[in-house]
Amino acid sequence: MLDTRQLRLRRLGAADETRFVALDSDPEVMRYIGSRGGTPEEIVARVRDRIAADHGALGWWVIEGRDDGAFHGVAALLRMPDGDDIELAYRLARASWGAGLATEAASALARYAFDQVGLPRLVAVTFPENVASQRVLEKVGFVHDGMSTYKTFQVTHFTCEASEWRKRRAEAGDAGRRGRGRGRRAPR
Ligand SMILES: CC(C)(COP(=O)(O)OP(=O)(O)OC[C@H]1O[C@@H](n2cnc3c(N)ncnc32)[C@H](O)[C@@H]1OP(=O)(O)O)[C@@H](O)C(=O)NCCC(=O)NCCS
Repeated sequence: MLDTRQLRLRRLGAADETRFVALDSDPEVMRYIGSRGGTPEEIVARVRDRIAADHGALGWWVIEGRDDGAFHGVAALLRMPDGDDIELAYRLARASWGAGLATEAASALARYAFDQVGLPRLVAVTFPENVASQRVLEKVGFVHDGMSTYKTFQVTHFTCEASEWRKRRAEAGDAGRRGRGRGRRAPR
């Protein structure tokens, strides 16, 4: 389980099938997702495959409200179709967009990938038009490093090196500590 300020990420399980199917049946949510479309039966089959798959320390997570358990969406760490890189992916239900939740969830999963799994780097890909997702990746610490082919799609490619991510986090921590210190009254 991964807890953040507003969210709880937990491993995907059989009880999540209905909500995951509803999420993947919304064409607005799936507009920029590679594995989209198909009949309702095909969507159910795809979700069941994800629930059944064993990716070890990687794999699928459900994003929920930490206090109310509300379903917000899913996120994943998955091996890229080509090569050894691990991809960070996420999608939220429409009602959960625009509140910073994707950034919060993606940051938590990146932290897990680097600090607990020990991955040296993560990659992510987006459709070129998916500016909101690109912004999420930048906020987490990913860097845009060109275009690539993902399955059959031309996509915008992002990378996040663990070393760079740690440096950035340390700097943010220092800035936060300095900021908190500024307003403090001097000791008498
Ligand atoms: C893309 C998605 C994950 C974003 O989730 P979210 O919780 O709304 O994202 P956040 O609120 O954490 O951050 C979004 C950022 O993009 C910005 N943004 C949103 N729409 C934008 C647009 N059309 N153009 C430019 N920036 C945009 C927001 O202002 C915010 O940046 P800011 O914090 O600097 O203001 C969500 O809309 C979603 O799940 N979409 C469908 C599935 C999907 O596309 N998944 C990603 C596949 S790569």
